[in-house]
Amino acid sequence: MKERRCVALIAGDGIGPEITEAVRRVIAASGAPIDWDERVAGLAAIEAGQPVLPEETVEAIRRHGVALKGPCTTPVGKGFQSVNVQLRKTLDLYAAVRPVRSLDGVATRFDGVDIVIVRENTEGLYSGIENRVAPGVVTSMKVATESACTRIARWAFRYARHRGRKRVTVFHKANIMKLTDGLFIECARRVHDAEFVDLAYDELIIDAGCMRMVQDPSRFDVLLLENLYGDVVSDLCAGLVGGLGVVPGSNIGDREAVFEAVHGSAPDIAGKGIANPLALLMSAVMMLNHLAETEGRIDLGEAAGRIKTAYNRALAEGRTTRDLGGDLGTLAFADAVAERL
Ligand code: NAI
Repeated sequence: MKERRCVALIAGDGIGPEITEAVRRVIAASGAPIDWDERVAGLAAIEAGQPVLPEETVEAIRRHGVALKGPCTTPVGKGFQSVNVQLRKTLDLYAAVRPVRSLDGVATRFDGVDIVIVRENTEGLYSGIENRVAPGVVTSMKVATESACTRIARWAFRYARHRGRKRVTVFHKANIMKLTDGLFIECARRVHDAEFVDLAYDELIIDAGCMRMVQDPSRFDVLLLENLYGDVVSDLCAGLVGGLGVVPGSNIGDREAVFEAVHGSAPDIAGKGIANPLALLMSAVMMLNHLAETEGRIDLGEAAGRIKTAYNRALAEGRTTRDLGGDLGTLAFADAVAERL
């Protein structure tokens, strides 16, 4: 009998519970021996009378080493600090990895998009250091450290080499933020020149980079971005391949890894049973592949492969949710994938 593997599961807010249920259905149907240790965070934690990121949730992720997470709502302009930012900082999940790929069966403006975004996840303008310095005057501190900039650059180049990728491109604004973005590109250049000269490396000022991206995404391979740029460019790139419903992600540290879709809790469609669970399902596939690579779990890698084939088949046959032009609800899409396993 195959050894079972327990992972932490945070359903999250808004569409989170609907899409996690759909993903659990597909994983169960695939026969992957995964058990879920359900934990709360975000509004769900507050409603249960707990802190927004309960210590037990963090402990569960530490214990299992791996988590699948639904989106968590963050209030705009007031209220508690983002659970996502807290979690990434607490566990030092410094690399956000977001593969953005064209899918057969999802018609978009471009074909053959195959970009991996590597986003620095722990500093930049997400330091959360904001001050009211005088009435009507506020500041926000952008933090860049040599250690974090070097660490994420090395991670991106290593990833590129390991996956047989050819080029790493940095988007920056070092013409304006000469110190912070200047340090980011200085570290990337140094790591490239010392350890990765076999890979191509280039830099683009972010505004020009975004324009080139929407003109011809095929020129990009691995993108290395500081925190805020990575957040924004992830959604831009999602738009190239069919939207937020089809882009998965992972947040990786040296000890733990948390897998989650790029999209948020989508309050506008929450509770309607129409959200696309595919991005979270793809994140779960990334999680299974991660366990296969780091723990030698060939069985989980095989299950990941079968799930990927099944969702590609469903998409090719037009069995999709509304955001992709189909008419299936969240769970009906999960069933369509499960039937094709
Ligand atoms: P969002 O990603 O939740 O939604 C943007 C648009 O995309 C909405 O129209 C939504 O309906 C649509 N959409 C998103 N996911 C979809 C899916 N799976 N299927 C079909 N349509 C989908 O971004 P928004 O509205 O800016 O943020 C809502 C909340 O989510 C905020 O509180 C934000 O802080 C939070 N958020 C959480 C993230 C996380 O937990 N990792 C990431 C991004 C946002």
